[in-house]
Amino acid sequence: MQVIPEILNRKSIMDFKSDPIGKDKLENILEAGRMAPSAKNRQEWRFIVVTDKKKQDKIKEAAFGQEHVGQAPVIIVACTTNIDYRMPNGQVAYPIDLTFPVSFMMIQAVHEGLGTCCITTYDEQEIRELLSVPYSMRVVMLLLVGYAESEPEPAPRKTFRQVFSYNHW
Ligand SMILES: Cc1cc2nc3c(=O)[nH]c(=O)nc-3n(C[C@H](O)[C@H](O)[C@H](O)COP(=O)(O)O)c2cc1C
Repeated sequence: MQVIPEILNRKSIMDFKSDPIGKDKLENILEAGRMAPSAKNRQEWRFIVVTDKKKQDKIKEAAFGQEHVGQAPVIIVACTTNIDYRMPNGQVAYPIDLTFPVSFMMIQAVHEGLGTCCITTYDEQEIRELLSVPYSMRVVMLLLVGYAESEPEPAPRKTFRQVFSYNHW
């Protein structure tokens, strides 16, 4: 089996350097997200790229003081622009939709020599107010992006056989 190194080497970074990210690298990451698929190609998303240190410090507070949130030179705040749309299978689209661009950004970041960490532990209301996100929208997740200060150990995964089955459950 051969999986691309960007997927194999991605890990959630818990310790970032303060070094800034070059404009080209950042734009490549954002562009990777823009190309992601979405239900009915609705692209009901908006990403707020937070580079302002004061705002980042406030986001760290909203994220209950998680150290790595305050370290990353870029925080991408992934928001939905529609909370109502249900897909034909009855499921709400936005949490699923938002996962694709964030995943694409993660993989592109590794390709750029950068690390990421997805964050969902935060007070949504505090972030909403800080970034003027409309009340009718939701802040779905944050993506920290930056150079890793240290490499975490790989997190264990279930085995192939635990996760996949052919033709029945
Ligand atoms: C939906 C989601 C929410 C997460 N929320 C947080 C979080 O709030 N804080 C954090 O440090 N890591 C968070 N993580 C990172 C996970 O803990 C991490 O992906 C998991 O332990 C597997 O490790 P790996 O990403 O290094 O493979 C989140 C990951 C996902 C996919």
